Amino acid sequence: MYNYAGDIGIRRDILPHLEYLETLGSTKAFIIELGVQYGNGSTLALMNGLRASAADPKLMISVDIDDQISEGRRPVEEYWHLILGNSATGRVINDADTLVDATFPGIKKIDVVFIDSFHKPYHVIDEINAWFPMADANTIWLFHDVWSDTSGEETDVSLAVRDWATTHGYNYDILSQEAQGLSIMTKLV
Ligand SMILES: C[S@@+](CC[C@H](N)C(=O)[O-])C[C@H]1O[C@@H](n2cnc3c(N)ncnc32)[C@H](O)[C@@H]1O
Repeated sequence: MYNYAGDIGIRRDILPHLEYLETLGSTKAFIIELGVQYGNGSTLALMNGLRASAADPKLMISVDIDDQISEGRRPVEEYWHLILGNSATGRVINDADTLVDATFPGIKKIDVVFIDSFHKPYHVIDEINAWFPMADANTIWLFHDVWSDTSGEETDVSLAVRDWATTHGYNYDILSQEAQGLSIMTKLV
């Protein structure tokens, strides 16, 4: 496991979740990450996991409105792609679709979607709806910034996702209240 705490540039509000992301990625083939920033948080952890994955082929698509990846942090693997743009728009989804078609013969749906971009309820719901056609009943949806340390309650984003989950036949749980929280949404079986 990578020593995330020893990484000098790490964001403290993502640090406690990184080992989980690495472990999850290590059994997957296709990951979507919305919100990259410096490339040393979720990008690093999910890519560390995917590198260890036995899947072949594999694909990780990271999306950010802006390229802020620090020097030396950009993954070099040919199966990692950065799409620049608003993570809830059709142009970004179309670019991702093209990469999926080029990588996976036949139909491949997303294994993991990690959402940590613009933390407004409407935007996160737009992201779910935008990426939903590329997901299926096995897709794991993860959300960062779902718990407020100050109020000790779920954030508005979390409540909006919980409502979406309830009305669409999905299960929704807060996995961790630490460091702005991490939640998971999966299809009810
Ligand atoms: C909290 S940071 C992501 C942190 C990253 N996941 C990590 O682990 O270090 C949020 C990122 O979302 C990006 N962002 C904000 N609004 C966005 C949008 N509408 N579409 C895509 N990315 C957006 C910002 O540029 C920023 O890099």
